[in-house]
Formats: sequence, structure tokens, C-alpha cells
Amino acid sequence: MKKRIAVIPGDGIGLDVTPEALKVLRAIAETGGHEFVFTEFDWGAERYLATGVSLPEGALDDLRRSYDVVFLGALGDPRVPDMKHATDILFGLRFGLELYANIRPVKLLAPQLTPLRDRGVGDLDFVVVRENTEGLYVHMGGNFKKDTKDEVAIQEDVNTYKGVERIIRFAFEYARAHGRKQLLMSDKSNALTYGHDLWQRVFAELQPQYPEIESRHLYVDNLAFQLIKNPTQFDVIVTCNMFGDIISDLGAALVGGLGLAASGNVNPDGLSMFEPVHGSAPKYAGKNVANPMAAILTAGMLLDHLGLQQEAEWVEQAARASMETGNTARDLGGSLKTSEVGDWMADYITAQYPAKTARS
Ligand code: NAD
Ligand code: IPM
Ligand code: MN
Repeated sequence: MKKRIAVIPGDGIGLDVTPEALKVLRAIAETGGHEFVFTEFDWGAERYLATGVSLPEGALDDLRRSYDVVFLGALGDPRVPDMKHATDILFGLRFGLELYANIRPVKLLAPQLTPLRDRGVGDLDFVVVRENTEGLYVHMGGNFKKDTKDEVAIQEDVNTYKGVERIIRFAFEYARAHGRKQLLMSDKSNALTYGHDLWQRVFAELQPQYPEIESRHLYVDNLAFQLIKNPTQFDVIVTCNMFGDIISDLGAALVGGLGLAASGNVNPDGLSMFEPVHGSAPKYAGKNVANPMAAILTAGMLLDHLGLQQEAEWVEQAARASMETGNTARDLGGSLKTSEVGDWMADYITAQYPAKTARS
């Protein structure tokens, strides 16, 4: 299978972890008998500071026309405190490509990774489906009397029928396609009586269409509580953009941290983009210490999205093996450098699955 992959390493540790994800994808290509053609884009703080260009003109059309999938490292740089370039690039892609489903799996790969007492592998395995194109993220609003003591700052929370319907439907369909039995919709409709009331009504409209999925609702404050108290009860969680952002970092903390959290920004009818949940972690940037496993597991999600389920499985198995044998980066208690984790994963895949090449 030949696939064209657009790669945006971005900023900070995005530049450290992306090469490791590509290393693993190259090993997979070799082992699985595929051809992956990578094209790198230098979109990020460095280019923005040098030229003023964040997301270049025509970028989205070029991506749509010429690539099967996009991989993004991370964006964010202390030299750009207003995040202008990151906003243009990240939201330019998420909104511009209609990547409305942000899929963020929370899965415990090794028992020692959870900070929760008496929880093991199998107890934590759920997926957060985060609405990714509206809510509080649409940059509508403004200031009145800015920088005075009378300042008014308004940030609009946009919930459209189309946007809410498609993400809740996506979550139901995701559950159905992945053999997951339960769907939880979480909102704050007791306080957000217009925007999240729409979520309630759309949810009620869709529930009867998926009778085989057990669906229910929790307010997001209770969800945060329940995620710590009894995370085993969750299967698929669908929620709005802002709550999904917060819940997915909480979920990451339950299964080993941001060094392991993978995500996909999916448009089921078009080009999709895959990126780790973590940011650019400036304090680790360029030091070869960041954990590239989130980026590598994100590459696994990308493979799954391309229809390469077996190959995606190899990535996860290799990740489990690295944790079982203690071949991990520092954040997980190991001693491997960023590049050594990538090497270990690529070598493991090559050694463990060599016969597949001959067979395919
Ligand atoms: P962050 O995810 O960069 O870091 C949060 C914490 O997790 C830090 O302690 C960091 O050192 C640690 N961490 C994150 N990834 C790690 C890894 N791979 N290995 C080891 N430790 C890791 O979040 P932040 O500090 O809030 O944000 C830093 C910058 O990144 C900001 O500019 C922010 O806006 C941006 N950001 C970007 C994205 C993205 O591109 N998708 C996501 C989140 C934050
Ligand atoms: C994420 C990040 C972004 C978000 C930031 C960088 C705007 O936290 O991808 O989770 O809030 O979506
Ligand atoms: Mn986030």
C-alpha cells in the first residue's frame, strides 16, 4: 500500500518526537511491505518569527489534494506568547479541514502506569470523542474598554445543530464500529441552558437510532469525579470541545501521562490529521528527553485510520513490550532518550514481525 503522509513537526518537543514516530512508521512500512512517502512542512514558530507566515496561503487545498493523512508534532513557543502561529495552524487545520471528531483513547498499557490504587490493565480502556470545530473554540467574541478596570471580555460558546448532531452521531457510529457497548454524553446543561440544552435534545433524538448501544448522560463535573473514582465504567465518552480538552488530559494522567496520550482529528469524509495530546513542552525541547511514545502511538492511530489495523496492532504491542521491559523514557521511570525509545520500538517491530514482509 502506498500512502502520502504530510508531516508537520511544529515546535518544541514536536521537533524531537516526530522523527521517532517516522522511524517507527518506516519500520512498519518495511515489515508490512508498504510505501510511505513523507513530506515535511516547516510550519511553526521558527518560520513565523522569521517570515510572519504561519499557515501558508493555499495550504489546506494542497494538503487535501496531495496527501492521504497528516501527522502533526506539537505547536506552541514561548517566543510567541499570544500563540498566533499555533492558532492559525492548529485551528486552521482543525476547522478548515472540518476535523470535527477528536478521538483520544485512554487505555492502560501496563499496570504500573496508573496512579490509581487497585486498577489494572483492562480496567481503563475508554475513548474520549471530543467535538473539535465549535464550542468555546471558535474565536468569536471581543473586548470592550480593554486594559481598563471597566473591561468586558466576551468569549462566545457556539453550538450548532449540525455540529452537535454530527459529533454525537459519530460517537454512536464509532461505538458500533468498534464493538463498544456504551456511550456517555457529558455536558453542563444544568448551567449552560441554551448551548448544552441543544446537546441534550440532539442526544435524545439519536439514542433510539442506536438501541444496541447503552447510552446515558453525566454532567461534566460528575464525570471528572467518576473518572477518578471508577473509570472502569466508561467506554465511549462524547463531549464538547472545551470539556473534551480537559477530560482527555485527565484521562492521560490515569494511564501514564501525556508522554503516552495519542489522538486523531478526524473528518470521516475527508483528510484527517493525527497529533499527540501533549503540547510543545518547552522545558524539554531539543534535549532528547521527551517521551516520543505519544507520537508513536499517534502514528499507530494513523495506521489504523489508513486501514492498516494489523500494523496499528504491532505498534501497540511494541509499546506494551517497551513498558513491560522498562525500555522507556524518563517520565515513565526509564532511562532511554527520546531517540532511543524510537530506535527500540523500530527494532522491536523489525525483529518481532519480520516474516510478514515475506508473506505479504
Ligand atoms: P504540554 O503538554 O506541553 O506539557 C504539560 C506537561 O506534560 C509538562 O510538564 C510537560 O513537560 C509534560 N509533557 C508533555 N509531553 C511530554 C512528553 N512527550 N514527554 C514528557 N513529558 C511531557 O502542555 P503546556 O505546558 O500546557 O503547553 C506548552 C505549549 O504547548 C503551550 O504553548 C501550549 O499552548 C501548547 N500546546 C499545544 C498542543 C498541540 O499542539 N496540540 C497541545 C497542548 C499544548
Ligand atoms: C490540545 C491543546 C489545544 C486545544 C491548545 C494548544 C489550543 O490543548 O490539542 O489538547 O485546546 O485544543
Ligand atoms: Mn489539550
